[in-house]
Amino acid sequence: MTLAGKTVVVVGGSSGIGLATAELAKREGADVIIASRNAGRLEVLAERLKATAIPTDVTDDASVANLFQRSGPVDHVVVSAAQLRTGPFKTVAMDDVRATMESKFWGAWRVARAADIRAGGSLTLVSGFLSIRPRPNSAIISAANAALESLSRALALELAPLRVNCISPGIIDTPIRAAMPAEARKEMLAKAAASLPVGRVGEGEDVARQIIAFMTNGFMTGATVYLDGGALVV
Ligand SMILES: NC(=O)c1ccc[n+]([C@@H]2O[C@H](COP(=O)([O-])OP(=O)(O)OC[C@H]3O[C@@H](n4cnc5c(N)ncnc54)[C@H](OP(=O)(O)O)[C@@H]3O)[C@@H](O)[C@H]2O)c1
Repeated sequence: MTLAGKTVVVVGGSSGIGLATAELAKREGADVIIASRNAGRLEVLAERLKATAIPTDVTDDASVANLFQRSGPVDHVVVSAAQLRTGPFKTVAMDDVRATMESKFWGAWRVARAADIRAGGSLTLVSGFLSIRPRPNSAIISAANAALESLSRALALELAPLRVNCISPGIIDTPIRAAMPAEARKEMLAKAAASLPVGRVGEGEDVARQIIAFMTNGFMTGATVYLDGGALVV
């Protein structure tokens, strides 16, 4: 199975894992649609990739419906969109934890409901290894990730023969940590790299390769792949 002539929608396709997936899908011959909130950034990237930009906010039902009205039926959909707010369990604001679920979990849910995916196609959700390797102050992210992993299995059954899979990345160097001071970020990534069997943190393209494998391997459904450089064995 190849991506030549297939239409791939990447929700969250303007940065990090989503952008790397859009780039790789394009190189593999797909027609690519990228969707995220910042319309200006989306347009610039779409022009560079020769992709189509459809501004979308996954926290908004009407915006997600508009994305798939404009796209029409498609072959493969990936949801990497998320904006995460977290903090210590006892004190983190309820508005923050609700916002995390709203974008990461309910966002994926909305996309899965609204997308019209052709026979032979696939849906890929993006969770994260905190689902099974939690860290302090991240309970809501662990819970959202675990919910997505569970949702992908449930949808693999209920939406069959549509194939539904989930990629659960470890630490990937993307703009998701752009708000951290540069020095602290560099230090954190170096420490993580040193702790991993592969000796480095991930890049967007590492994850994109697995997502493309989900799209093109017709025997893959209901799977969660932990792609973490060996974080789960140390
Ligand atoms: N990087 C890691 O280490 C890592 C590890 C485990 C899991 N993950 C997960 O992987 C996914 C992608 O992460 P990333 O590192 O690629 O992040 P990123 O570089 O920050 O990209 C996030 C993308 O989502 C879009 N987005 C955010 N909120 C949105 C909304 N409400 N509606 C539509 N689009 C929205 C952003 O564009 P706009 O801001 O323009 O909307 C951007 O395109 C996330 O779910 C993250 O939790 C990442």
